[in-house]
Amino acid sequence: MLDTEKKILKVAKDVDIFLKKFLKRKTQKSKLYEAIKYGLFSGGKKFRSYLIVNTGNIFNLNYRDLITVAAAVECMHSYSLIHDDLPSMDNDDFRRGKPSVHKAFGESTAILAGNSLLTLAFEILTSDNMKSRSKSKSDLVYALASASGYTGIAGGQFLDLRFEKMKVKKDLIINMQNKKTGELISFCSESAAILSGKEKERSFLKKIGLDIGLLFQVTDDLLDIFGDSKKIGKPTRRDNQKGKATIIRNLGVNKTIEFSYELADGISERLKNRYGTRADSLIDSVYFLLRRDH
Ligand code: IPE
Ligand code: IPE
Ligand code: MG
Ligand code: MG
Ligand code: MG
Repeated sequence: MLDTEKKILKVAKDVDIFLKKFLKRKTQKSKLYEAIKYGLFSGGKKFRSYLIVNTGNIFNLNYRDLITVAAAVECMHSYSLIHDDLPSMDNDDFRRGKPSVHKAFGESTAILAGNSLLTLAFEILTSDNMKSRSKSKSDLVYALASASGYTGIAGGQFLDLRFEKMKVKKDLIINMQNKKTGELISFCSESAAILSGKEKERSFLKKIGLDIGLLFQVTDDLLDIFGDSKKIGKPTRRDNQKGKATIIRNLGVNKTIEFSYELADGISERLKNRYGTRADSLIDSVYFLLRRDH
């Protein structure tokens, strides 16, 4: 196993331990609670968590705080996936190697499990587990809310569905992908700047995160074509069937691969110039996206 993969697994494990403990505080015996756990602990990569930890490394931030923010992000992310798979959205039956939440628990329960995970993210950020200053806490809540609603995930998902079977210009595709995927990933890097209290770093890291998010979505779109569905745990060749507006549809495969390398190099250059070797682990996680097979 690659060194990076080992490091991601360690972070993933710590986030899951945190989430299990957090949920245990208010255990509810119900099918809804089972669906929430099914959607949340189904073996996602936790790349977003890894990004938070690596951005935090630039500022030597407290690991516990970073894991707490990461746990909130993974709740938000799992919510978005549960809803993304619904019949009224991408209508996908498999996720993380198992039947999607609506297949296992029914549609209404999947919608409610998604809603519950969305709000759980904010319970975590505002809980006593977050030891940071109240200004940081409210900034985190504000930024995560903006990354998730109509200016973020929900807005991007709306456009993603509207653009199906349409010929869409590259800039509009990027705008849609920034919203549906980029904003949450951008929150990951921005959150480390918020926790550090270094106001000047916020907008820089927010922009960097948006590009990392775009790179993430572009490699996800490439995996839809070239990936092994067993390895990625979800159906492949779906984007073309659904007529999704992707960069690949717009530029073709070769130019999209070129675009992804240029994006990674640009991100790496900007990080190196600003933080020197302190950004090494963050840069490594950016290049990891180019090599990923799941
Ligand atoms: C998939 O995200 C959804 C996109 C934004 C492309 P991930 O690939 O991070 O999904 P998990 O968490 O590893 O299952
Ligand atoms: C999903 O994009 C982005 C979300 C906000 C959930 P995709 O629809 O491409 O994600 P997958 O391929 O189903 O994981
Ligand atoms: Mg989708
Ligand atoms: Mg999908
Ligand atoms: Mg996809």
